[in-house]
Amino acid sequence: MIHINENYLKLQASYLFAEIGRRVIQHQKDNPEKEIIKMGIGDVTRALPAACIQAFHDAVDEMAQDDTFRGYGPEQGYAFLREVIASKDFQKRGADIQADEIFVSDGAKCDTGNIQEIFAQEVSVAIPDPVYPAYMDTNVMAGRTGLFRDGRYDGITYLEGNRENGFIPSLPAEPVDLIYLCYPNNPTGAVITKEQLGRWVDYARANKALILFDAAYEAFIQDDKLPRSIFEIPGAREVAIEFRSFSKTAGFTGTRCAFTVVPKDCLAYSSNGELHSLNDLWNRRHSTKFNSVSYPVQRAAEAAYSPDGRRQTQERIDYYLRNATLIVEQVSAMGLTCIGGVNSPYIWVDCQQDSWEFFDLLLNKAGVVCTPGAGFGKCGQGYIRLSAFNDYENVVAAMERIKNIL
Ligand code: MLT
Repeated sequence: MIHINENYLKLQASYLFAEIGRRVIQHQKDNPEKEIIKMGIGDVTRALPAACIQAFHDAVDEMAQDDTFRGYGPEQGYAFLREVIASKDFQKRGADIQADEIFVSDGAKCDTGNIQEIFAQEVSVAIPDPVYPAYMDTNVMAGRTGLFRDGRYDGITYLEGNRENGFIPSLPAEPVDLIYLCYPNNPTGAVITKEQLGRWVDYARANKALILFDAAYEAFIQDDKLPRSIFEIPGAREVAIEFRSFSKTAGFTGTRCAFTVVPKDCLAYSSNGELHSLNDLWNRRHSTKFNSVSYPVQRAAEAAYSPDGRRQTQERIDYYLRNATLIVEQVSAMGLTCIGGVNSPYIWVDCQQDSWEFFDLLLNKAGVVCTPGAGFGKCGQGYIRLSAFNDYENVVAAMERIKNIL
């Protein structure tokens, strides 16, 4: 008799963004004449940079000729992309990362979920609250949690973010093995300094733990003193894996290209106490279950590092950051407090009431979609997240609409 993975029964009814989508569709059905402005899911609205489009077209043309056509590529990604990533994203900033430590993939979300496969079932896991829900849900699916009770899963160490600590959680009181961190933070928009991140690296080294560092929003960092990569922190090569994405930097949410960095110094234990290379394990997993990203997409991603690609990508980042600045100004002028929106595309607003009620208020009265903070965890209750990924005119209109109903 076929049985299901019962861990799925512990999950909340639907994934946060699916639930928001469901409510928005219902609202549109009930109010077909009303136009909605979406500031919920962080999805880019600007077209791909021209340099990426040109490279994409050229690569498609190569695929159209027998003598330049390519079949399967290397599972880890083409050398041309891995090399430019290692050099421009890491070595140029003083982080010692080599091309064979980069694994190209179709998304940071998939990688943060899939990476768990290389760790023992019983590792203890620390997850921030509030948090990007995919980290939590994939741990539930993998059976690393108990039941969901009073807004929390048993068996997880929650790293609480709140107004007092500026949404930078303190180190866990008890030893943990696997730690999720994301900076610039989704959902709060908080950023971490080198000193603060250094404390996490020291903790991981002292406790033989590993940090899964999600840096999907690093391109939004404008302050050069802030770390863009955990590998800018001394000692991190031994205790961290980093996730990056072209989605929010070069507009690849619909094109799909990302990468995971697994340094060769990153080791973990087997039950007999032997040390094993996580780079080897991830390579084994990746080459068994994945055939990398299509050749034209990898060429398009490579083009984001060309001088034109760099400039055009930065123009998009600047565009969204201008939205973020406007949101922060307007929200503050409405008398609400917020964090984020500086070095980050997310603005975390203290809505002074239940998150889902405020979500419904904005949707029903203003026709604006936000993300309710409670959907990111218990500590997100009383907040909403606004995304700066939108057309400027929409952001102006959305702020006007919100101002009129508050
Ligand atoms: C978000 O809105 O949090 C992100 O767009 C989700 C994602 O990147 O998967």
